[in-house]
Amino acid sequence: MKLQRFFIATALVITIGGLLVAQQNTSKAGVEQERFGVRDGRPVILYTLKNSHGVEVHAMNYGGIIQAIRVPDRKGNFADIVLGHDTAEGYMPNPPYIGAIVGRYANRIANGTFTLDGKTYNLPKNDGPNTLHGGTARTFDKVMWESQPIKDKNGVLFEFLSKDGDDGFPGNLKMKVSYVLTDSNELVIDYEATTDKATPINVSQHSYFNLKGEGNGDILDHEVMINADRFTPVDKNLIPTGELRPVKGTPLDFTKPTRIGTRIDDNYDQLVLGHGYDHNFVINRKGPGMTLAARVSDPTTGRVLEVSTTQPAVQFYTGNFLDGTVTGKEGRVYKRRFGFCLETQHYPDSPNHPDFPTTILKPGETFHQTTAFKFSAK
Ligand code: GLA
Repeated sequence: MKLQRFFIATALVITIGGLLVAQQNTSKAGVEQERFGVRDGRPVILYTLKNSHGVEVHAMNYGGIIQAIRVPDRKGNFADIVLGHDTAEGYMPNPPYIGAIVGRYANRIANGTFTLDGKTYNLPKNDGPNTLHGGTARTFDKVMWESQPIKDKNGVLFEFLSKDGDDGFPGNLKMKVSYVLTDSNELVIDYEATTDKATPINVSQHSYFNLKGEGNGDILDHEVMINADRFTPVDKNLIPTGELRPVKGTPLDFTKPTRIGTRIDDNYDQLVLGHGYDHNFVINRKGPGMTLAARVSDPTTGRVLEVSTTQPAVQFYTGNFLDGTVTGKEGRVYKRRFGFCLETQHYPDSPNHPDFPTTILKPGETFHQTTAFKFSAK
């Protein structure tokens, strides 16, 4: 009897011990680097940032792409919650901008043109009549960035010089982006830029999240809260009309947590035009600084994502253009609405809307924005 109890107790200790090891993902916190592919004859390096809770963020110097984010659910089981590919080549090309830094101008510029200080600039059109996410050639999502680990902070720093005239934009723009993973399970993304000629700038991060785990079905059952009383309605080309419309009484009211799928296909002009949610929400703020933009939770796993930012707005995009043509990690197919993006940014097409908050960076000024993705489970 005693012996039997001893065996049961030992088995329990071993099992619980095993579970703890499995769940805590114990290998050491820090930054690791590995070779992940080749681009323009240069090695693509994948940085793995790992904190003391076993949370991991994998990001590469090609496009600053976040390739994986591994976080626990309410039971402590880890999963990768961002869409992506197993190799760097898998992102070449990357039409949905999966995981990438987008710029110089994230989102759309109407008719691929803007006027600044009396001069008209023409950009490549890559989205019907518009320029989307900065153009076609040397845009942030598809260039090699200089990179180095930030060891004392558990992070990585990316730097890129966008040259005067790149994709039609003025000025040599020196861009720095850092990803730092904290021990409070926050991924802090910091953007900094300077220029030698006045130029528009709007940068964002284009990760697609699925809190159930990437490739694990659609995101329609996720609950979303967006801290915004107003959004910028769009025309048929997804260009803001200039109006700031209250969300109240519309299917874009996420001021209280609501399932994404509840109203996504409502017969509301903005949802019809966006083929679902693809809208810029104006964040409610009391002043400058970090403010909560959105909170998303997945009832199945309990995983929660909170997005805070210094930026004025957030584009909530529900992967309406994913159509099953992209095969992601381990052969999983990414179908319509298999991921959502919360792209903190300025309003789309601001260079053509003088009444929107300005996106013009001038010589002598420093552009600085911060966004934090905080992961937890409930
Ligand atoms: C942004 C846009 C979407 C779409 C994606 C990329 O989120 O708002 O309309 O273009 O990028 O597929």
